[in-house]
Amino acid sequence: MKIVIVGTGYVGLVTGACLAEVGTEVVCVDVNTAKIERLQNDVLPIYEPGLLEIVKRNRQDGRLFFTTDLASALPGAEVVFIAVGTPPGEDGSADLQYVLQVASQIGQLMEHYLVIVTKSTVPVGTAAQVNRAVKNSLDARQRILDYDVASNPEFLKEGAAVNDFMKPDRIVVGVNTAKARQTLEQLYHPFLLNGHPILFMDIASAEMTKYAANAMLATRISYMNDIANLCGLVGADINQVRKGIGSDPRIGKHFLYPGIGYGGSCFPKDVKALMQTGREYGYQLRILDAVEAVNEDQKKLLFGKVLRHFDGDIRNKKFAVWGLSFKPNTDDMREAPSLVLIDSLLEAGAIVSVYDPVAMEEAHGYLGNSVTYAEDMYNAAENAVAVLLATEWNTFRMPDWQRLRSLMQSPLLFDGRNIYDNVQLTQLGFTYYGIGKTTDTVNALIQ
Ligand code: UDX
Repeated sequence: MKIVIVGTGYVGLVTGACLAEVGTEVVCVDVNTAKIERLQNDVLPIYEPGLLEIVKRNRQDGRLFFTTDLASALPGAEVVFIAVGTPPGEDGSADLQYVLQVASQIGQLMEHYLVIVTKSTVPVGTAAQVNRAVKNSLDARQRILDYDVASNPEFLKEGAAVNDFMKPDRIVVGVNTAKARQTLEQLYHPFLLNGHPILFMDIASAEMTKYAANAMLATRISYMNDIANLCGLVGADINQVRKGIGSDPRIGKHFLYPGIGYGGSCFPKDVKALMQTGREYGYQLRILDAVEAVNEDQKKLLFGKVLRHFDGDIRNKKFAVWGLSFKPNTDDMREAPSLVLIDSLLEAGAIVSVYDPVAMEEAHGYLGNSVTYAEDMYNAAENAVAVLLATEWNTFRMPDWQRLRSLMQSPLLFDGRNIYDNVQLTQLGFTYYGIGKTTDTVNALIQ
């Protein structure tokens, strides 16, 4: 089968590479000439474990192609995925202009039956708008061609995207004709062999599923952050509580980790977009109001603890920030909580040295020369009054504590992801602050 994917961002690129890997002929299209030229030379726009190998292999084997020319890509294709960006508009709703532009172009160029699939995260009702855009273009050409629209939201996690695509928990497909269903069933057949389910449903439900899933995951995080903060107040340990509640299979042990708030390209945007959809229909999603509010506060929590520790004065003091990306195994800085932390430190007059194993270059685009970019985690901590862990990369998990201690001005650690053992660190002579482990939380929240 031959397919076309429009948009070579995270979703488009991973989808294209992984579908080629199982034998599909894939043409990836993007308007960004420089990006396409780089991809034609195996240079990826993102860091994602395992992706480069798959792109290289499938390009070499003649199954994966990159072009800026949609017209030359469409002949012979059975499916076109729309995987272009849906940035948040001012009111938080997803901006659909790129999706609809692509839909119009498809209508202008198509010459045979196609299943046109939205892969970008798009609000309920988008498939209907895509349908209209395609039809308007066909009408303008005075052509009558059969086509179907479908919705196939993507659930991959950055940093684990290839694995998530290859071994999906489920594939959700919204269709309204048997023909579209059959085509997409055939396309995804290789992924279903090990019992991974494909769930066919109506289009609106498929569109809704994506938002409902991300909003629920964001809710879990804000809930755990709220409970962690209370644990700090009452002298309980959130790690113990997390294990205690996670053993109940109805709750489950995943995604219960408190921290300095959720970030990334999906949760903040999707929570806002879902709330906006609610507003459009006159329905207020009250839970999500709270989810957002807790997350905003949580991003400020570590800074509050720092200020309290230093009695409000951190001018000209050097702080090391370990980890910048919004989570490990990605260089993605979008909505990274580290940025909020660093901004607050700088605003209060502190000197900030940062280290991230992968996201330094990307971070430079956000932070410019306001911080020092250290060579490694120890270099960042040299003469620092404190280390602030913002992202739980594996390299930070077991530092050489003696070395760290001897480098720093004072052995002080703020653990924004609860990856260290407070008892061990205290024994090693460090002053330790975590999330939801000690009574300091309350003061940080109140300040
Ligand atoms: C998420 C969804 O998981 C994925 O299914 C969807 O397709 C896109 O959005 P992603 O944004 O890549 O994926 O990251 P994820 O691993 O879900 O983490 C999101 C944020 O939540 C990160 O900032 C992470 O640090 C935070 N998080 C996650 C927590 O604070 N605690 C947790 O227990 C889990």
